Amino acid sequence: MVSTTPKLTRTDTDALSELYRLVRARTMKIVAPLEIEDYVIQTAEFMSPPRWHVGHTSWFFETLLQTFLPGYQTYSQDFLFYFNSYYEGFGPRIERAKRGTKSRPTVKATLEYRRRIDDLMMEFLQKLPGHPQGDKVRTLVRLGLEHEMQHQELLVYDIKHLLCDLYKPEIRPAPEVSQVTEGMAEFEGGLFQLGYRDEWKSLDSRHRTELFGFDNEKPEHQVFLQDFAMDRAPVTNGDYLQFIKSGGYRDFRWWFSEGWQTVAKEQWQGPLYWEVHDGQWMIRDVDGLHPIDSKANQPASHVSFYEASAYAKWSGKRLPTEPEWEKAASFDPKTGDKGIFPWGNEPADLSKANLLENEIWGCSPVGAFPAGQTFNGCQQMIGDVWEWTSSDYVPYPGFKSEFEEYNDKWFVNQKVLRGGSYATPQLHIRSTYRNFFHAHERWMISGFRCAKDL
Ligand SMILES: [Fe+2]
Repeated sequence: MVSTTPKLTRTDTDALSELYRLVRARTMKIVAPLEIEDYVIQTAEFMSPPRWHVGHTSWFFETLLQTFLPGYQTYSQDFLFYFNSYYEGFGPRIERAKRGTKSRPTVKATLEYRRRIDDLMMEFLQKLPGHPQGDKVRTLVRLGLEHEMQHQELLVYDIKHLLCDLYKPEIRPAPEVSQVTEGMAEFEGGLFQLGYRDEWKSLDSRHRTELFGFDNEKPEHQVFLQDFAMDRAPVTNGDYLQFIKSGGYRDFRWWFSEGWQTVAKEQWQGPLYWEVHDGQWMIRDVDGLHPIDSKANQPASHVSFYEASAYAKWSGKRLPTEPEWEKAASFDPKTGDKGIFPWGNEPADLSKANLLENEIWGCSPVGAFPAGQTFNGCQQMIGDVWEWTSSDYVPYPGFKSEFEEYNDKWFVNQKVLRGGSYATPQLHIRSTYRNFFHAHERWMISGFRCAKDL
């Protein structure tokens, strides 16, 4: 007979509780500079009002309490309806595009809901070592925290769309750049192990919890690569301006047919948040409106897959495939194997990559994080901007869904992006992480670097 004794220890739950407090507090830090009116407005159907994120991330933990806490009474049916996102299994819900058409639940009621769920979760976590399904719950709590970190990043995209330079967080300066980054790094082809490695689980010593990996990053499996070269730097605003100035948005030759149609329909002339003032291109960011010149050496961001692909073709290169990107970002010639990050297996910190905790709230110049570069000088593969790949978001061979309706129902019509952005929490990123968006989307912090065959 299989033992049903929970393996969970007091140390496990203490570490999880600590992580819970840390992640939940970070969400509130992001919304702290908002005025009450900012919480309820929806500026596009693809974004959500900040109040919705604050409630939805709590709703996620409430579904867990409903399932695993005996005698739990639902907080409010109205909240279940308003704060569910896309989960068919959890009943009816408000349409995404209508989240900004309701003033209730109020911000005050949403914050009360959040506090109540937090109190119950902290109590519940303390009791987990004796719970018959303790291990399962622990996995789901961790998923809830990873989910919340995803929403922290979405909050940054949505607040930027809503307020842009009217949002006033405390902004820290990006590091000065002391080196020049040029050219492409070359990588030998051959067999490569793609995806999250199970042995990595035990490696996150900093948080005394496991190094999380989503089901869509698994299983690690063998792929074959041709020799290739990868840009050492992401395409910068200065590079991208040349594409615009050379008539890139008016020349069908660079565009996929669907991309060309989107350029016409949306009347795109440059990336999102690029504006023309007195005949000059400017970029509006959280820290204000700037001439391109002052941001010429920063990675270009808020470009769609269509724009990234058009630029790549114009420049005589192409976007990397997902396995090429991962090999470039993780291969260590000293061991002949890959690491979790470009710099090895040490966790991300402020010195290695521009992530949410750096609080720069924008891109840093190319070369600003030399401690995070790859062995052959590829800069900022982690942090700054998510990088488009040419790969479709599909399951890896041998994929097994670990969570209902989480990753697997999106395996169609989307493209993979890699590497995280300045809005990605440190704990949430690794080289094997697969993000995904539709080819036309660009309100997220998306950029790219180019590759080519050798
Ligand atoms: Fe969600």
